[in-house]
Amino acid sequence: MSLLPILTIPDTRLKAKCKPLDNVDGRVADLMDNMLETMYKAPGIGLAAPQVGILERLIVVDVTDHKNEKPNPLAMVNPELIWTSDELAVTQEGCLSIPEIYADVTRPAQVRVRYVDRAGEVQEMDADGLLATCIQHEIDHLNGVLFIDHLSSLKRNMVLRKYNKAKRG
Ligand code: NI
Repeated sequence: MSLLPILTIPDTRLKAKCKPLDNVDGRVADLMDNMLETMYKAPGIGLAAPQVGILERLIVVDVTDHKNEKPNPLAMVNPELIWTSDELAVTQEGCLSIPEIYADVTRPAQVRVRYVDRAGEVQEMDADGLLATCIQHEIDHLNGVLFIDHLSSLKRNMVLRKYNKAKRG
């Protein structure tokens, strides 16, 4: 396994619409392992393939509290939301591609996601809480959408100014 470099804004690859994968072969399994290792090391709770420069529909997620729970790595190929609740939830989000910036984002509180797993099997999963937020955030990445794109333009400009200032150090 190996760590992958994580792209940060304004890398244009983070704005790309990613391509579906045709099958889960050894290359994809290796990419899953490397993305999970990279996510845990960062540390983060989710990572999408475009964040490591691969413009394909693959995400990895693990929202468990590592101090108190065993890891529960999830790797999802071609994930799609097949249901979202009317109920909304506001969660403070961050992103490994926008380091040290956090903002409240409103999204559906519960989702059902269909995806292909590591064995190539189609799965469906219901998620709520942090897992629901994280899955939606990562699927957004596959469509070139960042969490700051959910903010008002006023708020987005504020956080981008803060980010650019911090980057200049
Ligand atoms: Ni992100």
